[in-house]
Amino acid sequence: MSLKNKNILLGVCAGIAAYKIPTLVRLLKKQGANVRVLVTQAATKFVTELTLSTLSQEPVYTDIFPDRLSTEADWTKHISMGEWADMYVVAPATANTIAKLSAGISDDMLSASFITLRPNKPKLIFPAMDGEMFTSASVQRNLAWLSENGCTVINPESGELASGQCGTGRMPEPEAIVKIIDTTLETTFHPSNLEKKSIVITAGPTREKIDDVRFISNYSSGKMGFALATSAVRRGAKVTLVTGPVHLPTPEGVDRLDVESTEEMDLAVKEHYQSCDIFIGAAAVADYRPVNHVTGKLKKNSETMAIDLVRNPDVLAGFSKQKKKHQIAVGFSLETAGNLDNAKEKLEQKQLDLVAYNTFDGKTSGFEVDTNIITLIDKRMNFYELPLLGKHEAAERMLDIVEGLISDDE
Ligand code: CTP
Repeated sequence: MSLKNKNILLGVCAGIAAYKIPTLVRLLKKQGANVRVLVTQAATKFVTELTLSTLSQEPVYTDIFPDRLSTEADWTKHISMGEWADMYVVAPATANTIAKLSAGISDDMLSASFITLRPNKPKLIFPAMDGEMFTSASVQRNLAWLSENGCTVINPESGELASGQCGTGRMPEPEAIVKIIDTTLETTFHPSNLEKKSIVITAGPTREKIDDVRFISNYSSGKMGFALATSAVRRGAKVTLVTGPVHLPTPEGVDRLDVESTEEMDLAVKEHYQSCDIFIGAAAVADYRPVNHVTGKLKKNSETMAIDLVRNPDVLAGFSKQKKKHQIAVGFSLETAGNLDNAKEKLEQKQLDLVAYNTFDGKTSGFEVDTNIITLIDKRMNFYELPLLGKHEAAERMLDIVEGLISDDE
């Protein structure tokens, strides 16, 4: 049981499911956790501060600014809350608070403390609302942003809702929430040997200019590389993310370098050859670039046209070639299903320690989508076949295996 002496911040929003929160607080306390409850103003209509304070044996906070300042530090409580917590749980999370958290609004104790939480601390979000609200485009967009930025969103259950209708929107029972908190803490706080390791990750596509308005590129969204960066930071690693043009926010705690072409990516990675312990090539790098970059705009003056291309540097192979004994190189091999041998070849040719054979089908795996199907093969020809997973979950499993490689070598 990993709850003993753990500091849990519990944010409570104004949903009918808030009636389950006193039981949740009791269960967490019973297992030895320290619980501090932060409620939104509207949540106090569903559950009283007195009840929550009595059960948690702690003051319950709503506003950042207390009615009366009793000590100097009273108005900076939102900062000390974030420092204190080992984990932040928002339950029930309403559409309004989810929107605030994803936008970085910090106008009450719950939302301000959410921002001050340390990047490597887990954040669990339990949305609970009417089914129509839950599936609405804005709620789904905001939840997707939170997932991409280090939060674990626990989808609500289906069943009868407060509106009397049936649908997806019910918050899990307190016993189930305790289990999820417990498992999350257990996996988060097992000591990671990635702690303090320096990891360089490439992500996204690269662009190779044809002229000043056109380029050669691919459909890579950068999601897999960004998910790896998020998971690595959570494990205490120092992460540099070298990314091609993508529409993704920078994960908290990650040092991001934006590049456009393969040559720029290669140069940025070379800067880290010495300091880097682990290099993960998750970028979909353009293998060729036009020999000539036309200044201005290329005009159409013939029925056909040929563009001469020249090979780009191989960023990953370049790293492997110079790597010292303690350094680890990880690559991806995007292939149509059934071409596992190509991945094995890449492992050898690029002298990798681990390759992720990544199939694409345009729907569940590969570019742009949120899920992936990966088989990992290490240099000793151990195979790890992962099922269809969300890219964040796939990133976690992949780093578990990278951790194993470090212990093998140390
Ligand atoms: N990679 C790289 N630099 C390149 C090309 C690829 O760093 N110029 C990295 C990718 O980030 C990925 C792996 O190498 O980790 C993919 O290898 P690659 O041989 O390029 O794969 P494909 O392009 O899929 O190979 P092919 O076109 O031969 O199937």
